[in-house]
Amino acid sequence: MSAGQRQGQQPAGPSHVAIIMDGNGRWAQMRGLPRQEGHRRGLDALRRTVKNAGELGIAVLTLYSFSTENWRRPQAEVSFLMGLLKRFVEKDLAELDASGVKVRIIGGREDLAPDLRRLVEHAEAMTCNNTGMTLAIAFNYGSRDEIVRTARALAAEVAAGRIATSAIDEALFSSRLDTSDLPDPELVIRTSGETRISNFLLWQAAYAEFVFSPVLWPDFDRAALEDALAEYRRRERRFGGVSEPADRNVGAA
Ligand code: IPE
Ligand code: IPE
Ligand code: MG
Repeated sequence: MSAGQRQGQQPAGPSHVAIIMDGNGRWAQMRGLPRQEGHRRGLDALRRTVKNAGELGIAVLTLYSFSTENWRRPQAEVSFLMGLLKRFVEKDLAELDASGVKVRIIGGREDLAPDLRRLVEHAEAMTCNNTGMTLAIAFNYGSRDEIVRTARALAAEVAAGRIATSAIDEALFSSRLDTSDLPDPELVIRTSGETRISNFLLWQAAYAEFVFSPVLWPDFDRAALEDALAEYRRRERRFGGVSEPADRNVGAA
């Protein structure tokens, strides 16, 4: 067990925060506005959160922007969300690059329109050597889809004789996920009061702390982020071990 995984440890950090940005539709609905307006304001919250996370020393920020299940929404909303990602990359990439942000997009690429796919690849290539915060955008992301794609790729390698079945372990599997170059998140935040995971980082969040914020995503501000970080720091992370006083009792027996 690593020093960072000692039993009963009060956590510092976190260094990787992942957020399920939820509540755009309800934010708009409450104001009698179209859902799209909620998504537009959600993009403002995203920009604000990237800046705040950087200032608060978060090394990796992963944002859930569009799930594999979100294709079930009305066509007009899906198109709007696709356009929003496109505009975000087009408008913000230069500034993100100038601030040293490394951009990563996780999720299935095959279903994206060719122009969006090219843009995503361009954003990653342009920022790949940056050494500031990593911003991972989960787009057309679903954890089950990611795990199945990984299993399929490994099965093909076994079939081709390139790897032995026995070589497949947790480390190899992790190294083939979309998040291969990212550490696991220590903290997952979901906004809007919903308390479910909705197919987000099922593998990677195995030992994450979860904080559920009642704030609707367009209202998510620095105070809300700091509240979640404070809540995380109050948690005791045991990783299957026991807390320290009990540990000492065992030693004394
Ligand atoms: C989150 O807000 C944005 C996406 C899932 C794309 P929602 O659009 O889910 O907002 P609610 O949950 O309907 O309020
Ligand atoms: C999860 O939110 C997906 C994103 C935030 C991108 P949803 O609003 O799609 O999730 P459910 O349908 O409430 O589980
Ligand atoms: Mg929602």
